[in-house]
Amino acid sequence: MAIGVFDSGVGGLTVHRKLVDRFPQADFVYLADQAHAPYGGLGGEEIVDLTRTGCRRLFEAGADVVVLACNTASAIALRRLQQTWLPEYRREVGRALNVLGIIVPTIEAATGRGWDQGPPLDGKIEKLEVLGVFCTAATAMSQVYEIEVQKRREDLAAFSEPCPGLAGLIELGAPVEELKVVVGDHVDALRRRIGRYPDKAILGCTHYEIVAPLFEAALPEGTTLIHQPSATADALERYFGRHGEYDLGTAGRREFLTTGTPGRQSDLVSQFWGAPVTFEAA
Ligand code: DGL
Repeated sequence: MAIGVFDSGVGGLTVHRKLVDRFPQADFVYLADQAHAPYGGLGGEEIVDLTRTGCRRLFEAGADVVVLACNTASAIALRRLQQTWLPEYRREVGRALNVLGIIVPTIEAATGRGWDQGPPLDGKIEKLEVLGVFCTAATAMSQVYEIEVQKRREDLAAFSEPCPGLAGLIELGAPVEELKVVVGDHVDALRRRIGRYPDKAILGCTHYEIVAPLFEAALPEGTTLIHQPSATADALERYFGRHGEYDLGTAGRREFLTTGTPGRQSDLVSQFWGAPVTFEAA
């Protein structure tokens, strides 16, 4: 059995990398839905259908737990799949299975408030902090970051900044100089919209983590960057601590699948992964 990791493309490898480092003995299957990427501009129903198909493929490949290492899928599809598909699918296959997202772990890291820490603290707000969230258009439209942050911290205001096109450029392995200009424009757009730089920032699309140094360079030193891959690895470790029912395998199997064109991924991907990554046909 294995841990499945799903993304529309190569972005989820940022999360996958941290999970592999955290659970080195476990078996992993990664699925990139490159045939349908990018997800950021698709409609809600399409994202739900594609995510369900991706999860099913990962469960068929032996995953017990699938991590949606895609903010867009987590924002749009996770709740729907957990409520309307998973219970029946579990009965069908007759084993413990689950699908987990990456947004709540990220928000817990950004707010310092986990699921077991009760309702937001009441009281006078001494200072309002601003959290900038760079993400796809679909994630920004869902307002998931604004809603989930508000539930936990009234003194933290989240603003999502859609960056349409950026994930696609990263997926295609665009030159760093081109990406630097696009990232700089989005950071500037957020600064102009909220009147100042954010105190904290989330790269709310896994693809952006691949170019995290460009965001770091465009943001002032005082802005703290919340990293989703480590927040997700922390949350998954806590989850497995509470759920001993999953068999994660012990052979250290690493399988990389794509619905798109199989083959070696871009140099940008190899750089952050630390080795060339080659996808096989899903
Ligand atoms: N990397 C995905 C995310 O975290 C989706 C990017 C896309 O396919 O548009 O949102």
